[in-house]
Amino acid sequence: MSTTVNLPQVRSDQFFTVAEARHDRWRNLLSAIRAWGSALEKNGPAAEAKRSNVAAIFEDLRQWEDFFAYPGAALLQTIEDRITEGDHAATTRVVQAVSVALLTHSYRGSDAAWEGAQTAPGVMSAKLPVGGNENAPLKPYFEVLIATAAHPSTWPGLSRELRKLRRPQDTFLYETVFVSSFEDAVLGTILNGSLEAVIISEGIPFASLHNSPVLREFLTTHLAATGVDVNAPDLALALAQGIKLIRPELDIYLLSDREVEKVAGSPEAQCLRRIFYQVEEPLELHLSILDGIADRYNTPYFDNLQKYAQRPIGTFHALPIARGKSIFKSNWISDMGRFYGINLFLAESSATTGGLDSLLEPTGNIKVAQELAARAFGADRVFFVTNGTSTSNKMVEQALLAPGDIMLVDRNCHKSHHYGAVLAGALPLYVDAYPLTRFSMYGAVPLRSIKKALLQLKAEGKLGRAKLLVLTNCTFDGQIYNVERVMEECLAIKPDLIFLWDEAWFGYARWSPFYRRRTAMGAAEFLERKFKDPVYRAAYQEQAKKLGPDLNQEEEVLLETRLLANPDKVRLRVYQTNSTHKSMSALRQGSMVLVKDQDYHTVEEQFHEAIFTHASTSPNLQIIATLDVARRQMELEGYELVNRAIQLALELRREVNSHPLISKYFTILGAYEMIPAQFRNSGFIDYLAPGSNWAQAIKALREDEFALDVTRLTLVCGTAGFDGTQFKNLLAARYDIQLNKTSRNSVLLQTNINNTRSDVAHLIKVLVEISQEIEKRLQQAGAQELSAFNARTKSLMEDVPDLPDFSCFHDSFRENPDSLTSEGDMRAGFFGAYREEQCDHLKLFDEEIDRRLKEGPALVSANFVIPYPPGFPIMVPGQVITPETIDFMRKLDVKEIHGFSAALGLKLLKPSFLEAAKSPTRGPAEPRRVVEKRAA
Ligand SMILES: Cc1ncc(COP(=O)(O)O)c(C=O)c1O
Repeated sequence: MSTTVNLPQVRSDQFFTVAEARHDRWRNLLSAIRAWGSALEKNGPAAEAKRSNVAAIFEDLRQWEDFFAYPGAALLQTIEDRITEGDHAATTRVVQAVSVALLTHSYRGSDAAWEGAQTAPGVMSAKLPVGGNENAPLKPYFEVLIATAAHPSTWPGLSRELRKLRRPQDTFLYETVFVSSFEDAVLGTILNGSLEAVIISEGIPFASLHNSPVLREFLTTHLAATGVDVNAPDLALALAQGIKLIRPELDIYLLSDREVEKVAGSPEAQCLRRIFYQVEEPLELHLSILDGIADRYNTPYFDNLQKYAQRPIGTFHALPIARGKSIFKSNWISDMGRFYGINLFLAESSATTGGLDSLLEPTGNIKVAQELAARAFGADRVFFVTNGTSTSNKMVEQALLAPGDIMLVDRNCHKSHHYGAVLAGALPLYVDAYPLTRFSMYGAVPLRSIKKALLQLKAEGKLGRAKLLVLTNCTFDGQIYNVERVMEECLAIKPDLIFLWDEAWFGYARWSPFYRRRTAMGAAEFLERKFKDPVYRAAYQEQAKKLGPDLNQEEEVLLETRLLANPDKVRLRVYQTNSTHKSMSALRQGSMVLVKDQDYHTVEEQFHEAIFTHASTSPNLQIIATLDVARRQMELEGYELVNRAIQLALELRREVNSHPLISKYFTILGAYEMIPAQFRNSGFIDYLAPGSNWAQAIKALREDEFALDVTRLTLVCGTAGFDGTQFKNLLAARYDIQLNKTSRNSVLLQTNINNTRSDVAHLIKVLVEISQEIEKRLQQAGAQELSAFNARTKSLMEDVPDLPDFSCFHDSFRENPDSLTSEGDMRAGFFGAYREEQCDHLKLFDEEIDRRLKEGPALVSANFVIPYPPGFPIMVPGQVITPETIDFMRKLDVKEIHGFSAALGLKLLKPSFLEAAKSPTRGPAEPRRVVEKRAA
């Protein structure tokens, strides 16, 4: 008898997307059951083959289901029995019920779902609501993984015992998932996004009994990716540490049968929340589990704000909107009250008393909320900011830089950094990102350029003044740095260099085990460990023997060497800013500054000054509350949500690039198009490239100089005849689809924790519709129209202007015009423009521009000129304007150019002012030695 077994293909991208893959498996099973039903209806001989196919698919699915509490062993057994008996109707009924329960999460509150009966979505069990109130919301539900050597036959009993401990006053509800080995516990941690706690019993064996090759590959690659130590002598503690590497937010409990006091005292036990002597106190264990969740659920500021809003408070301060009386009673604006609802107004206050705390000097619940955020993000301390990352960046820069200090920075970074340099009086030294000229955008800054800048500063005796390196991670378009390597190599050259990673877009990355190591805090944590590791120290000493402790080597040798930092000298000083509102559930402008700086005490005072300088004295309470809540959400469900955002991005990528019609006109750029080959040393091409496998993807994420954040999708629309702005407007006006930024021939789409599969489906449908329209138009077009279309796409895709790199500051703004390094006093240029008599204007197409470009005097920009797109300053104050800059400006066909008025023309600093501005006493003079060396 032949069987047709159609197991689903395992795609390499499914590595990241286990939750959605689970739904796919159930859907696949259902469709196989339907096919079995059709064969039965036809009474044909194929029915048995179809049944076998169902059985095979179920067998594959079942091994993955072992890692979830629902549907659980009993229901899975029922399904297997029904399939074996050939009972198609019963199989359909149970599988459908389980699929619905999984999709709607109804099993989290329904006893019926656990019995395999159909539940209407959203139906709640009367048993579960908090406090016995049927209208109250369900108790939040989670799962607890128990890794135990106890025989599987005892598991249902243990599970029942724990259920018996439930009390009406419990605020949360959990179910248990049992596994019997180290490997299975790791799999459970990765696969089950509902897990919040893990209980590990000592004595568990290492190897999984699951023998599917797919599961095995999945496990092996993850173990390699996360660095779990599979050879550690104490398996239980090694497992606890491994789980923390994958999901640091999980609470881990150890059930030990040894001297628990000894275990508790070991450094490896730091990652445990509590240690119990076997299950001597089941109730204590139950309460500890709930307590652990309560710790993460706790939102001190938000909770207090809710309480505050319920109190009858008379306000005699300057905030008429508070309590909403003037709104709800108004003849004219009561609709505002109805629209926003009463709570918004009840929760408004200008008070910092009554438990509301002060954002500028927090001592109460804002302080606690910030400490909780620090724990969640892996920082030493966190500052909430209510004016966006634009402000966070300026705060950090003001705090860390003094006039005359040098700040190495990507010229294409967000404008707040350039303004930060102006405000601090620091001299920016621009390091160039690699260009992606064809798509009119820049990538990220190669490490080689950063090292070169540092080595040149060293050669000129200016390294001491180079205080800060500022990079955007990930970039707007999704290039992620190898943060660990950048910091390590830079610290090898300058052991106390401070890093500011602008992770405006990347705050969510903390909750992906794949991205975490490429975040500022994730990398800092690894480096911290590395610098304490004797193996690293030995490797450093070995390198120091070759290169010399002071790296007195040819520049090229140092650029080519993977430098190791001196663990005895390094000071790990890492700052991160993130627009929490861009990737988590915070209101607009909600931002955080994360600090992991071992010398923070030396800048603490100035840090507070910077906060006082930039923070509003009337911060928005709702923004602070959402920062607190966003942290709660990410600590409890960030892992699952981020996985889903990544999954949706991959779905979208695959669908667009493989759709026969859409892909004729549109493409989403893969890693190989966004990151040149020399920065992908592992040879990785793309997650969706044919033949790409999990191991390659993980290797690339670990090793390559840059990786691509798949949730940032560059959709090329120039090939469909649209420039980025046109296409953005079309999507917004006709389809109510909003997107991120645009370039000459592309738009940037983004998925985040808020997106659903329906959003993706909608976008695909729209792209099909637009492609059909183009197709129809071209089919009906005459030769002239066709050639116009081809000319348009050619112009958009090929006639792209070269991107203008930063040229240089005018000599008047340089301490030593002969210096190898290009830092300049931008602030002097910036304030030079404050006097009208010191500035000139020249229209962009004025021939005088071309004449001066050839014959001089140099054209020097008086201000920032930032076209949108591309969104980076193509001129900064004091910068010499080159023919390339003018060429780029003249070819720009965008309307929004900040700092440039077409009617007035370019604003330039007058030559007379530049002459007068020369030879200022800025910073220490160059050491004679260097000047002489260069002259020689
Ligand atoms: C890299 C980068 N940093 C900082 C910011 C500013 O963030 P916010 O909008 O929160 O002020 C942005 C805004 O787009 C950005 O792209």
